[in-house]
Amino acid sequence: MKCLIIDGCPKKSNTWSIVKIVKEQMQNCGEVEFVEIELKKLDLPFCAGCSACFIKGEDKCPHASVIQPIAKKFEEADCVIITSSTYSLGLTALCKNFIDHMSYNFHRPRFFTKKALIISTTAGAGADTVVKYIRDIFKHWGFNKVHTLGLTVYSSSGYVPKGRVLEKSNKIATEFYNDVKNKKLYSPTLKRLMYFNAWRAINEKGSQADCQYWIDTKFNENSFSPDVKIGFLKKSIGNILFKIIKKNMPK
Ligand SMILES: Cc1cc2nc3c(=O)[nH]c(=O)nc-3n(C[C@H](O)[C@H](O)[C@H](O)COP(=O)(O)O)c2cc1C
Repeated sequence: MKCLIIDGCPKKSNTWSIVKIVKEQMQNCGEVEFVEIELKKLDLPFCAGCSACFIKGEDKCPHASVIQPIAKKFEEADCVIITSSTYSLGLTALCKNFIDHMSYNFHRPRFFTKKALIISTTAGAGADTVVKYIRDIFKHWGFNKVHTLGLTVYSSSGYVPKGRVLEKSNKIATEFYNDVKNKKLYSPTLKRLMYFNAWRAINEKGSQADCQYWIDTKFNENSFSPDVKIGFLKKSIGNILFKIIKKNMPK
């Protein structure tokens, strides 16, 4: 399996010590090819907030030459691991800047067959908030299943995983590997179904880039991504939600 790692930490320290354990454990489970991207090494300015990605298309982002090769690596991977140290009870600026550049995926979700693992470490508090926040973002982008590993580690740098932290890291790594390996795609929750159909309705009148994407993918004709099998009841609920949202949209 091909696993893309997006490292959103400014240094290879505590969080990376957990990533090393996760990588090792996944490789104990079977064959994994890791592709690593260190965000700090990219020449990525802050998101300019121009909205060109939403309005004209992701290739029109002023920083597309940096972001699009990474977006392509997302498409090529079976699964993605993303890391962020916990800073000021939140994610690193590096990681947030990357997420902002990928925001067009809210309008044009795509990673419906992929699974992700979010890893963060903190000295005391905040890692759970960080991993939950990134999990939410990845679910909006379409990811089928998002695993999380938020850990408290008592070290300012150079942490060596042991005890409960080591056990938990190995356990989550095994679960993540098995989940990617078995290729099972989970049916969306009602919340996910609602978001999909809200965007389906919004994008009928969205930007040219959004409308075209929903037509090209045929998502506009479906109550969820056709890659994910859903039952008759969920299909019907999705279509009803779509009609209600469409009817209530401002003219
Ligand atoms: C700028 C900065 C902000 C931090 N903010 C918090 C915080 O809000 N809560 C906390 O418990 N630890 C905080 N820490 C400690 C880190 O979360 C902790 O050391 C973490 O393991 C660092 O991961 P890293 O070594 O992979 O960067 C902060 C550290 C730094 C450098």
